[in-house]
Amino acid sequence: MNILVTGANRGLGLAFASHYLHQGDQVWACYRSDPGALIELNTASLHLVQWDVRQMPAAETLAKLPQAIDIVINNAGIYGPAKMAGQSLDNIEPETMLDVFDINCVGALRVVQAVKDRVIKSRGIIANISSKMGSSGDNGSGGCYAYRASKAALVIISKSMAVDLKPQGVRVITLHPGWVRTDMTAHTGEIDARESVNGMCKVINQIDEYEPGAFVAWDEELVPY
Ligand SMILES: NC(=O)c1ccc[n+]([C@@H]2O[C@H](COP(=O)([O-])OP(=O)(O)OC[C@H]3O[C@@H](n4cnc5c(N)ncnc54)[C@H](OP(=O)(O)O)[C@@H]3O)[C@@H](O)[C@H]2O)c1
Repeated sequence: MNILVTGANRGLGLAFASHYLHQGDQVWACYRSDPGALIELNTASLHLVQWDVRQMPAAETLAKLPQAIDIVINNAGIYGPAKMAGQSLDNIEPETMLDVFDINCVGALRVVQAVKDRVIKSRGIIANISSKMGSSGDNGSGGCYAYRASKAALVIISKSMAVDLKPQGVRVITLHPGWVRTDMTAHTGEIDARESVNGMCKVINQIDEYEPGAFVAWDEELVPY
């Protein structure tokens, strides 16, 4: 299979790239500016692509991608400023809201706009990595305005993509990785990236068991919106 992963140079993105390479797939691993640990993977099945999701890809970037893509993992994301310091009701700044939204939500939309014809060609899958933090039903602690709003918005655009692309045979799912030990959580999570990715890839494999645009956690549980 041909797999495209954004934000693949560390954390969950790197674990996705490793997972699919290990499975024998071709992986187009996109990185914002520094390929980082991807360099160490060093295999002919790995294709490095510089792509900052704040922008539509340049023609040279698109030329590096395969004509048919089986799975797109929209993984690139940022948390933004620390929860209490920068994302409290008193401290949140409009610029922060927009910056986080641009990467976490509009970024995934840009990626899909840029590659959807290639996903349609293989009647493939788009997996958008959101977070339980974007669930209204799961929000018992408040705060985190920018991150929560961006991830909630990703859930709803993911649902629209699922509806819009269903007639062309493309399946779309929204995933919650769990609380994972990566840079984003300062390595304070409950599970490691490999465990999370194994779980999410299992969900992707059984995507036809879910409604289009379903919001599903790494452990196969449905996430309340
Ligand atoms: N860890 C968790 O517990 C958890 C829970 C729920 C959801 N998530 C979501 O899972 C995804 C991966 O998170 P993670 O924990 O692996 O975080 P991470 O370790 O902080 O990695 C984030 C990745 O996104 C990339 N990125 C950031 N801005 C980008 C941009 N403008 N263009 C392209 N790539 C960009 C980063 O690239 P650089 O290295 O260049 O900055 C990095 O590769 C995120 O969407 C996150 O919100 C994580």
